[in-house]
Amino acid sequence: MLTVPIGIFDSGFGGLTVLKDIRRMLPQFDYLYLGDNARAPYGDRSFDVIYEYTLQSVDFLFSQGCQLVLLACNTASARALRTIQQNNLSKYPNHYRVLGIVRPTVERIDTITKSKHIGILATEGTVISNSYPIEIEKLFPQIAVYQESCPLWVPLVEQHIIDDYHAGPIIQQNISALLNQHDAIDAIILACTHYPILMDTILKHLPANISLVTQGKIVAASLQSYFLKHLHWQQILTQEGKCTFLTTDNAKIFNEKASYFYGEEVIAKQIHLTTY
Ligand code: DGL
Repeated sequence: MLTVPIGIFDSGFGGLTVLKDIRRMLPQFDYLYLGDNARAPYGDRSFDVIYEYTLQSVDFLFSQGCQLVLLACNTASARALRTIQQNNLSKYPNHYRVLGIVRPTVERIDTITKSKHIGILATEGTVISNSYPIEIEKLFPQIAVYQESCPLWVPLVEQHIIDDYHAGPIIQQNISALLNQHDAIDAIILACTHYPILMDTILKHLPANISLVTQGKIVAASLQSYFLKHLHWQQILTQEGKCTFLTTDNAKIFNEKASYFYGEEVIAKQIHLTTY
């Protein structure tokens, strides 16, 4: 029988932090992870390029048997998801879907801030897209949003330079720039799937009264409720509990670093993306 896995996409390693929580909550399904490591980071690239790279990746995952793809990447969700849904899905069967992670995060925001002032730390692409402020305004217009882009955080994480001595001063600077925007900010969302890897260092520079939110569990819970609302996926998706990892860069290098993100050993295969 052919496998119909859930496709999970990120520009590189970050989506593994989300996949980990999804597999914990939904272990029965099969997963196909694709990291476009050869072209990461996406964060400071233009809209056109992020859209093109994300579309190639989605088309590839569909060509490998996926029918449902989750962009486990805020930058791709913020800059490419809407356009792909509107312009590119029509060439596939009706039930094929691409989901993102901005909306599921936003849906939980009222449970995260008591002061109704929330901070967002994200890549430049996510911040420029204004996706978080726009989506939050739609659901919770009473919540004020403050954003700060952290252009060096993804390169630090991809290179695994995460210790306080090297990463601390950079992290400190971005957190201060965010918190200086308003005294009442009481929670910060790490709106980039790479950032949880910097957690220990971030916590050293975060005032104790500010809570820090990561997306893995939020996205996993949202996917679980999506399946409860859309029961046909239970019939379509294969459920053998398998997980396959693909990268556009060298697989050996991917395997060495991926375990930091995934928490267990990963054996990936290298693929080459073209237009499918
Ligand atoms: N992990 C991705 C995100 O959540 C982006 C990283 C990048 O800049 O490529 O935004």
